[in-house]
Amino acid sequence: MSDDILGEMRRTHNCCELDAASVGKEVVLMGWVQRRRDHGGVIFIDLRDREGITQVVFNPEKNKNIHEKAHAIRNEYVIGVRGIVDPRPEGMTNPTLKTGEIEITVVELKILNAAKTPAFLIEDKIDVSETVRLKYRHIDLRRPQMQKNIIMRHKAAASVRNYLDKLGFLEIETPVLTRSTPEGARDYLVPSRVNPGQFYALPQSPQLFKQLLMISGLDRYFQIVRCFRDEDLRADRQPEFTQIDMEMSFVGENDIMAITEGMMKKIFNDVLGIEINPPFLRLLYKDSVSRFGLDRPDMRFDLELKDISDIVEKSGFKVFSSVVKKGGIVKALNAKGCSYFSRKEIDDLAEFVAVYRAKGLAWIKVKEDTWQSPIAKFFTDQEKKALSRRLEMEPGDLVFFVADQPKVTNEALGYLRNHLGKKLGMIDENEFSFVWVTDFPLLEYDETEKRLQALHHPFTAPLEEDLKLLKDDPLSARSRAYDLVLNGSEIGGGSIRIHKKDQQEKVFEALNMDKKTYEEKFGFLLSALDSGAPPHGGIAFGFDRLVMILCGQPSIRDVIAFPKTQKAACLLTNAPAATSKAQLDELSLKLKGDFAIS
Ligand code: AMO
Ligand code: AMP
Repeated sequence: MSDDILGEMRRTHNCCELDAASVGKEVVLMGWVQRRRDHGGVIFIDLRDREGITQVVFNPEKNKNIHEKAHAIRNEYVIGVRGIVDPRPEGMTNPTLKTGEIEITVVELKILNAAKTPAFLIEDKIDVSETVRLKYRHIDLRRPQMQKNIIMRHKAAASVRNYLDKLGFLEIETPVLTRSTPEGARDYLVPSRVNPGQFYALPQSPQLFKQLLMISGLDRYFQIVRCFRDEDLRADRQPEFTQIDMEMSFVGENDIMAITEGMMKKIFNDVLGIEINPPFLRLLYKDSVSRFGLDRPDMRFDLELKDISDIVEKSGFKVFSSVVKKGGIVKALNAKGCSYFSRKEIDDLAEFVAVYRAKGLAWIKVKEDTWQSPIAKFFTDQEKKALSRRLEMEPGDLVFFVADQPKVTNEALGYLRNHLGKKLGMIDENEFSFVWVTDFPLLEYDETEKRLQALHHPFTAPLEEDLKLLKDDPLSARSRAYDLVLNGSEIGGGSIRIHKKDQQEKVFEALNMDKKTYEEKFGFLLSALDSGAPPHGGIAFGFDRLVMILCGQPSIRDVIAFPKTQKAACLLTNAPAATSKAQLDELSLKLKGDFAIS
């Protein structure tokens, strides 16, 4: 005799696979009670598992004891039933359910576990905060959409492994306890007990290890890997997230783009059954920023930005002319047919661009034979004519202007463009629009730190013809980096790498690192580059972002089983948490001020 609670009962089917063809069979199903309906006599239970729902029936006339036992069952109880598949009576079929033509008449019931009333209902449309959902994530994950998301995530990962394996890629793990790998965020540090006062950094990406693997001759590496970045979180950012990380030797940009385009095609086909058609459009970084304001343009709609600095530089509107004089730019967006916007709507948009540091949002409503606008009076007829032509202004249009330093002007109008695209229903939510953005600047000036920084990371190769700029005009040097953008979201980025020691040293120097510093931090890389490093390059995709788009979800938190909040906390386990003095002592650590433990 088995003392196991299941006894002889072994599951034969899942809750979505029985249909009219199964009628008459004896089956065993196990799962959770979605709903119990007690119709005086007969008790109906919707039994749920990961695959779906089957109706099971307890009929007092057929089996009095079991019907009696079924009275105790509540929502989310875990039960096992043995029963016969019966057709549902005339008029009782449910065409919205895969199993809607049948029901199970129960002959044996096992209550495998009771359950407290859950914090919320297990269904898609629930009215609870994300805080509650995250605290009871194990319950939240039972909801159909969440199960679908997690299953699709698995399918996408399986599709990637399948595709890359066939192309000869090796899946190789790299360390999690490591040294800092600069990707532009803060590191998460882990104190070392056996080396007091010393710390590991969790990898922001496996960047250096994958380059070392190329130097080791392990050409074609990939890994679906966790990365850690201590940065400000948003809907598409988590402190720990997953990359599809890849690296190849003896390749150029076109090889990497072709291989990853094939991977996208395969994922979309395997997961959604959709055909996408590479090659994807390519856009130079400078054109992306100039036309769409951002380096991750949403190409599902037009609404391009136009530079009008040359027209207004001498105008009587001092805001515009003085900005141009100070090296800034004035750009405009023509929202076609939007002159009906109310004052309040325009004010709201001004508040919207203020978030991106724009100091104002000027506007012109184009009427039949006049302009309605607080700034129209400042322009001469000639300027008006030039604006009208450049911006293709027609009666009914509403034109917006921002004047500022290029970065602010482009960003503010770029985000305004995305906002208007959504607001005006210009976006087809069923479209998947990929675009490569290429030829990024190698370096950028960091205003807060007051120094040059690598735009991607310091191991990205400069364009051959821009090498000479590194010393005297470093900000003009372009890199061999590329990003893949999908529907306005940066889903991947990579580059051809520096594979020569002297070139790597030149880039470190352009970043204002002295020899001692870069030898100390990256000596191992420099020595590896000097030991026979093949030309190589790669890319990493934000797997969570990609799955978020595949699942049509608004946040990456919805496609991660156990995500963290905006404050990087796990509400389920209450991490992070304080620690004991004993543990700190063991690590030779002491907390300061208010955080001190005595
Ligand atoms: P990068 O820093 O561009 O490149 O990262 C690659 C992709 O990872 C995703 N991503 C994130 N997703 C969620 N949360 C985050 N905090 C987060 N940060 C980045 C983005 C991004 O495009 N080592 C290089 C790749 C290379 O050069 O091969 C790297 O990590 O979708
Ligand atoms: P003011 O002269 O400050 O009243 O501004 C007149 C209009 O110009 C208002 O609609 C402001 O929002 C707008 N404006 C002010 N500064 C800027 C700027 N830097 N860029 C675009 N519009 C601006």
